[in-house]
Amino acid sequence: MKPCHYFLSPLFVCLLILPTSWANAENHKLNIICSAAPATCNVLRDSFVSIYDIPTNIVRMSSGEALDFIEKDSRSNNPTDISFDVWWGGTGDTHLKAVKNGLMHKFVSSNKTLLGWSTYLSDISDGNTVGVYAGMLGIVANKKVLTAQNLDLPNCWSDLGDPKYRGQLIIADPNTSGTAYTFLSTIFQIYDPFQRIQVLAEIKENILKTPKSGSDALLPVASDDAALSVAFIHDVPLLEYQNPSLAIIIPCEGTGYEIGAASILKSTKHLKEAKTFIEYTLLASTQNVLTKKIALQMYSNANTLSSPVYNNLKDLNVINYNFNIYSRETVRNDVLSTWNNLGNVD
Ligand code: F6P
Repeated sequence: MKPCHYFLSPLFVCLLILPTSWANAENHKLNIICSAAPATCNVLRDSFVSIYDIPTNIVRMSSGEALDFIEKDSRSNNPTDISFDVWWGGTGDTHLKAVKNGLMHKFVSSNKTLLGWSTYLSDISDGNTVGVYAGMLGIVANKKVLTAQNLDLPNCWSDLGDPKYRGQLIIADPNTSGTAYTFLSTIFQIYDPFQRIQVLAEIKENILKTPKSGSDALLPVASDDAALSVAFIHDVPLLEYQNPSLAIIIPCEGTGYEIGAASILKSTKHLKEAKTFIEYTLLASTQNVLTKKIALQMYSNANTLSSPVYNNLKDLNVINYNFNIYSRETVRNDVLSTWNNLGNVD
């Protein structure tokens, strides 16, 4: 089965600061690591609590950061006092890696209206994670900043390495960010081993800074402080509303995509409530609240409204992204060490 086909099927079709959640976590029944945008995490928690009356605490971590935390905590002789129950959102390959390391609890949703790409993730993980949303990666450009420096728009991933863009590029740290890891593995899947090193080395030369998360990498571009970033394109329109100079480019080589996942952690002490939470987030009524104005991904329920971002998109030039391979420990290590060894961002 090829996930890419699901993506192309017709059915596939405000940042808030989270309250400091570590401190009072033990007062809650359900503890959730959330790797989606903070606004999404907050809306899900608040609406879930108001319906089910289950005290719920959410801690926001980027995808790679969450994976690292879960892996280290499971190996530690001195694990954190908080026992997390659910990991919601973030790129599916990080969830799959935790599954492969035996860190998730099997849970197959009883929801019968999930789209094929959502159940695909469940199938390849033997029922240990499920797709909750999906989205495509793109280049985000600030036309005003580019014009002011007499620079044109890039068309391809390889253009991001052109020396004329030196100091204009913000890409998150792929060690912590699922967005940036998806970018790296997209380059790995497009270019042969020799070309990829060359393309990535040139791109890294142009980077100004590497924030922890993909959404943070967009902020300097949205505030006219840098010209270019790499992001999941559903994160752009809410910023575009404030800054009409932003443009999305689907690179000429084709682009990667994510299936954002939700999983129950093996360490859960509240299995029933954890299942209730994930089932709640798979309902069309829950997803409709998100897709209207909070976060514009494509969502996994066939009855959820289409994303305004992807519905109008003419260019669906996606690669056949291989989640299985790029979630393998050896492959992830290789992708990250290739990048880490290319030298430091100034
Ligand atoms: O902001 C939402 C989002 O783009 C999700 O679609 C994605 O799963 C997540 O952020 C990735 O965040 P990070 O790059 O911080 O891991």
